[in-house]
Amino acid sequence: MNKQIILLPGDGIGKEIMESAKYVLNTVASEFGHRFTFHSHAIGGDAIDQYGTPLPDDTINACEQADAILLGAVGGKKWEALPGNIRPEQGLLGIRKKLGLFANLRPIQGFAPLLHASPLKEEVVNGSDILIIRELTGGLYFGKPSERIKNGKAVVDTLYYERSEMERIVEKAFESARLRRKHLTSVDKANVLESSRLWREVVNEKSKEYPDVTVEHMLVDAGAMKLITAPTQFDVIVTENLFGDILSDEASVLTGSLGMLPSASIRSDGVGLYEPVHGSAPDIAGKGIANPLGMILSAALMLRHSLQMEEEANEIEEAVRACLEQGYHTADLSVKNGKQVGTKEMTEAVVENITTK
Ligand code: NAI
Ligand code: MG
Repeated sequence: MNKQIILLPGDGIGKEIMESAKYVLNTVASEFGHRFTFHSHAIGGDAIDQYGTPLPDDTINACEQADAILLGAVGGKKWEALPGNIRPEQGLLGIRKKLGLFANLRPIQGFAPLLHASPLKEEVVNGSDILIIRELTGGLYFGKPSERIKNGKAVVDTLYYERSEMERIVEKAFESARLRRKHLTSVDKANVLESSRLWREVVNEKSKEYPDVTVEHMLVDAGAMKLITAPTQFDVIVTENLFGDILSDEASVLTGSLGMLPSASIRSDGVGLYEPVHGSAPDIAGKGIANPLGMILSAALMLRHSLQMEEEANEIEEAVRACLEQGYHTADLSVKNGKQVGTKEMTEAVVENITTK
């Protein structure tokens, strides 16, 4: 398959880890007989320096025509004094909004060699493999009115959802569960909120189209507790914007390192933006020591969700797992008796595990 991929390296370590993703993708392409064409565009601070705006029109146009988009990270000290509307972060929020990326996917896996770094007990985390799917463009964060009223003596935020917004995210979750262990946990607060009651109705209705997927409803307070006491009981979790924001950060403690976490923001036609969860890490930028695995795992998500290359995505994920088992780690990961390496060597180790399996 021939695919057009837009690269938005951005700032700080974004540029370094993007090289890693490109190298791994080219390796996968040659192993599986695909051709990926990469086009790099500016975003964030890099775009401010070149064009005076964090999200140039040229970048938007390119992204609108792409099969998929990979982003490194944006931001840094240099641009901190700029007014809010031309800060690097606006580039990222702007592109998500422009492209209507309503589904945020965050897979969370406990990699065995890293488990001792998790604040949770190893035996609790071991074997956990969760995909959190969060609705990203509706709910409490976008509802109007959202303001102070009665001369500042009261306040209102609005939780507004269209049924169609719930349907499309729930459908995405069922489709994802079907590709995994076929278990879907829908998290809501249906004992209190009307929006959650409609959410539950939508989930039950959609479940008729996916008889092979087991559905479980869970209230968000109980879900927050189970996520860290019994994480292995989850496969796919689907929830609305606010609950998803909180639960996905909570679940990140399962992995023990920020540098390991990938994410995807996608829409119905499969177009998506893929990026590591971490930022531009200005403190280590330019030193060649950044952990490229969150970025490489984001590239795997891109293959799975935007390019329908499930086997190829699995290949990358298995190679990452194999590297860690062989003891390779970057400075941010503490691995007992491991081999500490830089960004390039870590990438090389992933590539080697892909080509020599
Ligand atoms: P950060 O995630 O960049 O760094 C936090 C800490 O984790 C630092 O000590 C950093 O060295 C380390 N770290 C992060 N990723 C790493 C990796 N791949 N390998 C090794 N170590 C890694 O968050 P911070 O410092 O709060 O923000 C720095 C800049 O990044 C800010 O301008 C912020 O606005 C921006 N940012 C951008 C994001 C994005 O582009 N999606 C997300 C979060 C922050
Ligand atoms: Mg958050």
